[in-house]
Amino acid sequence: MDYERLEVFLSTLAEDNGEYIEGLREKALSDDVPIIRRTSERLIKFIINTYQPKSILEIGTAVGYSAIFMASISNAHITTIEKYPPRITEAKKNFEECGYGERITFLTGDAIEILKELDGSYDMIFMDAAKGQYQVFLEDSLRLLDKNGILVCDNVLQEGDILESRYGIIRRNRSIHSRMRDFLYDITHDEKLVSTIIPLGDGMSLTTYKK
Ligand SMILES: C[S@@+](CC[C@H](N)C(=O)[O-])C[C@H]1O[C@@H](n2cnc3c(N)ncnc32)[C@H](O)[C@@H]1O
Repeated sequence: MDYERLEVFLSTLAEDNGEYIEGLREKALSDDVPIIRRTSERLIKFIINTYQPKSILEIGTAVGYSAIFMASISNAHITTIEKYPPRITEAKKNFEECGYGERITFLTGDAIEILKELDGSYDMIFMDAAKGQYQVFLEDSLRLLDKNGILVCDNVLQEGDILESRYGIIRRNRSIHSRMRDFLYDITHDEKLVSTIIPLGDGMSLTTYKK
């Protein structure tokens, strides 16, 4: 199967999210800000509709597109983390303007440090930050994940690089490649967890605690 064509086809089935959110998507894309793909967005909508999370933690805000999208389709409180200053400025502006700001807590700084400081539990965690750090985020994410919650991670197939052997990919991507392979191994081999990896968008993993 040609996954690129499939992705284009599935994207044509995407719903319209209304003028404001579609405007945010268009602006993010025209500014080259990486935001969730249509197909990943659809899966997130399905998960939120099924799980009805009351608290969502997002690692990787960018300019706030996915946080605002998740706020718009749920009643959840969303806590989201971003470290890159120009995106922080734009996300703050978007959170003020979007009409869901009172349900969004924006934490700025490196998620590796911020996650260690967080406590409480989240019904859903959406990991969408530096791919080379997923393994580092994992321990705290599992500590923060409610026993009935779901951990959703985007971009786990690295545009297909994950299939290649270490030597089949360019040198500068090798450490990300081996870290992501370790991450996928860990979420699929931890006896406490049940995980699946879906080749949708750039690959999404779903993880819950074993019941
Ligand atoms: C793919 S974008 C997030 C897109 C966003 N979830 C959306 O769909 O609208 C990833 C973001 O994670 C941020 N990021 C990467 N590593 C991070 C870290 N360690 N702590 C906080 N933010 C991080 C990047 O600066 C980038 O803006």
